[in-house]
Formats: sequence, C-alpha cells, structure tokens
Amino acid sequence: MRNETGNASKKNQDRSAPATNRIAIVIMAAGKGTRLKSKHPKVLHEVGGKPLLAHVIAAATQVVPPADIYAIIGHEAERVRQAVQDAGVQFVVQEPQRGTGHALMCASKALGAYHHVIVLSGDAPLISPETIRKLRDFHKNSSLQGKQAAMTILSAELEDPTGYGRVIYKELKSGEVKAIVEEKSCTAAQRTIHEINSGFYAFSVEPLFANIERLKTDNPHAEYYLTDMAQVLHKAGEIVVATQTENASEILGSNTRAELVELDRKMRREKILRLMAAGVTIFYPETSVIDADVEVGADTVIEPFVQLLGRTRIGADCRVRSYSVIQCSQIGDGVVVRPGCVLDGARVANGAVLGPYSHLRPGSEIGEGAHVGNFVETKKVRLGKGSKANHLTYLGDAEIGDGVNIGAGTITCNYDGVHKHKTIIEDEVFVGSDSTLVAPVRLGKGSYVGAASCITEDVPAESLAIGRGKQIVKEGWVKKKRRESR
Ligand code: UD1
Ligand code: CA
Repeated sequence: MRNETGNASKKNQDRSAPATNRIAIVIMAAGKGTRLKSKHPKVLHEVGGKPLLAHVIAAATQVVPPADIYAIIGHEAERVRQAVQDAGVQFVVQEPQRGTGHALMCASKALGAYHHVIVLSGDAPLISPETIRKLRDFHKNSSLQGKQAAMTILSAELEDPTGYGRVIYKELKSGEVKAIVEEKSCTAAQRTIHEINSGFYAFSVEPLFANIERLKTDNPHAEYYLTDMAQVLHKAGEIVVATQTENASEILGSNTRAELVELDRKMRREKILRLMAAGVTIFYPETSVIDADVEVGADTVIEPFVQLLGRTRIGADCRVRSYSVIQCSQIGDGVVVRPGCVLDGARVANGAVLGPYSHLRPGSEIGEGAHVGNFVETKKVRLGKGSKANHLTYLGDAEIGDGVNIGAGTITCNYDGVHKHKTIIEDEVFVGSDSTLVAPVRLGKGSYVGAASCITEDVPAESLAIGRGKQIVKEGWVKKKRRESR
C-alpha cells in the first residue's frame, strides 16, 4: 500500500483538526478491466472521444475542487496518471489491486482530514454532477433515530439487473439496508430483485475506516468488496441507507466492449441533441461522430457522415459537408468545408472555403476569406487574408501573406532530407502553376513567378522570376522525321 497525496506535512496538520463538513471524492480507477480483453487499462478506454476516467473527473470537479478528488490508480498507474493529471486531482496508488474495498483501504490516510467521502467508479462515465450532489445531500441529511448514516448507496431500478450487486433491506419499510449481495453470490430469490447497487456511495469517514478492516475475502474472487461494507456497518450498529437515482442510465458501467460501445452511442446521441437544441442543424445525426468536448455555433449545418473530434470548435453559420473529419481544430464563422476534408490541429478564420479534399495538418492557419481547394495539403503554414491555393498543392513551413495566388501544382520544397526550411511569400504575390519553391526562399511583395518555375533564389518585390528551360521550336521537324524513316 502506498499513498501519494503530495504535501505530507500539510495533510498531517489537516488530520489533527478535521473540519466537520469537508467532503472528498474518491474515484476507483485501479482495476485491470479483465472483461475488456485489452492491453490498455479499462479507465483509459474512450467513450465520446475521451477516456472513461476523464468523464468521471469532469463531473466530480463540478462538485468539489480538484484538490479534494482522489483517483485510485494501480493497473498501469503511470499511464492513467499521465492521461488525466492535467485536471489537477490527487492520486493514490493501490498496489496490488485486491478489490474495491481494498481500494478504499489504500485511501484511508489521504481521507483522514475529511468528514464525508463520495465514492465514484472510474468506469461509469455518464454520471452527472447533479446526481453526485443529490447523493451528497441525501447522505448528509439522512439519519435514523438521530444517528447520521454511515453509508448511503446510490441505487437504481433496472429492468435487467443482471451483473449488478442487489440491495437487500432489513425491512422494506424501514429504509435501512442490511447488505449488498453480488450477482455471483445471490440466491435465486435475491436475483429477482431489481434495485441494484450503482457502485456510487457516500460514507461518513469515521465509521468507514473504524470498520473497514472487518472486510473479508471469502467470495468467488477472493477480493475485498466495498459492497460488503453495507453488511459490516449494519452489523456494527451503524446506519446504512440507499437513495434511488431517477436517472438509471447515468450509472451504467462499462465492463465489456459491447457496454463501452453502447455508452459511446448514448453519449454522442445526447451531445448531438444538445447541439441541436443550441441551434445547430445535424442531418442524419446517427451517421455523425461528435466528441464530448466539441463546440459548434448556431446556424451551422453538419451534413451526414461528418466526424468532429477532440477539442474542436466550429463557429456560427458554417457548413460542414459530408465525409469531413475535423480534429482538434478551431474554425471561425461562415466557413464552408466542402466534402472530404481532413483537418488536424488547424485554425481557420471567418469566411474561408476549404475543399473538396483538402488536408490541413497541424499548424495550418488559414486567413479570413482564404480558399484552400482540392488536393491541397498544408502544414505549419500561415495563409493570409483572401489568399488562394485552389488545386493540387503542398504548402509546408511557409508564411504566406494576404491576397496571394498560389497556382495549381505549386510545391514548397521544405525538406532537404535533414532539415526543414521556410518559404516566405509576401502580400499580393502571384505564383504560376506547377512551380517548385526550394526553401529557404522569399518571394517579395507583389512579385510574379512564371508557370513551371523552379525557384531557388529570393525574388525581389514587384519583379518577375522565371526559372525554367527556354522553349525551343523546330519548325517542319515532324515532316523531316517522317521522310527520314521511310
Ligand atoms: C461493482 C460492484 C457492484 C455494482 C457495480 C456497478 C463491487 C464488488 N461490486 O461491480 O455491486 O453493481 O460495480 O457498476 O464493488 N477497482 C479498483 N481497485 C480494485 C478493483 C476495482 O480501483 O482492486 C475499480 C475499477 O477500476 C472500477 C471500479 O473499481 O473502476 C469498479 O470495479 P469493477 O470491477 O468494475 O466492479 P463491478 O464488477 O462492475
Ligand atoms: Ca464496473
């Protein structure tokens, strides 16, 4: 057992003077996820385009500050930590992983300074901040015969309760819970109970840790089950209650690939409904893939089979046509993305027109009203206001000013096999078709490059550069050749 919660001396001070109402959230995320049959840790599997655990952390941070959130990590701990550490939460390492009860045992030191702890499951990503708050408030306000509840279980009524632990009451009317029984240990009668344990709980810290050592491992997995705390606390004369969530779909976990895909579908469907409610038109919504963190402005139209991924932001009044895949990109207002564009890490200003079939790679900055057309690839490029590169072009490591025309088939030769070099094209330059610009090179303001030029030297402003073999014409040559071959 090892716990890592940062500043140890500060924690010790806190523990000596426990505030009565401090609330921590623990997120259990140390398990392997055996049923997914994966080499990746379960909580890093993605739904809605981000890891399961990141969704749970996002909900938790709406309820308590990140400093009071403890993610319990174990299997592939470093990978999990790295994936979510930006959120600023604390980590507790559970090594080895001996069950959900053991996960909490490992957090006992970290939780010493708190009065209550809410426990969430890192594999149930649909949980909402409202439901967490309701669980907290229900717990804090539940008491029987003047005694504060030691454990409150968030339960749900499921049509198909298969696989979940069942909530067993002392007497139904009393509201007092005497145990949670895992599916595998249920009697035939218990299996017919539809009120299940969601895997979310609130505990009063003092009775939890006063009794947690009583957990046993006499179950099919030989693990410490946190669910057994219901019985342990009940037997110790503590109060255990349950509150049923109205929103049963929020507690769904993801133990199998089929469940993961189902959660992903649910989450994306809800995302699309929220976008539509905010004024976005999405045709054939079941064909589009929109990640949880994507933002889209009002009156934008998304055509069928579009993917909007990662932290993408699309402005108002845009049209994103079919088969475009836009990832981690910022798009202004009134932009048209014609079919088949691929954008990754690009910024596109208002009124620009892209595609069909443009490929904007990281560092592409497309200016206001600029056009990037078919089979044009850009990378680390600033294309100025109103500039156009409409056909069959590669622009890499270039700074291109305003009002520039890049002819069809233009290539920036940015790579010499070892280093990348820069091409600078100043305002109002005209580059004729099929030109190769061998970097480093600068085309001065207002200059012209004749078609099919290979430009290896800087071109001064307002001048014409032609870099190609001179055309030779041999009149009558064909006739002569025919005569000779006869
Ligand atoms: C658990 C509950 C079950 C409940 C269900 C709801 C137990 C024993 N059972 O079952 O009653 O109906 O959730 O979804 O708790 N974890 C650790 N350390 C460990 C083991 C697991 O941190 O040693 C983490 C896992 O990464 C996971 C969470 O705890 O995020 C729940 O574990 P999981 O194995 O998925 O429990 P379930 O079988 O779903
Ligand atoms: Ca689970």
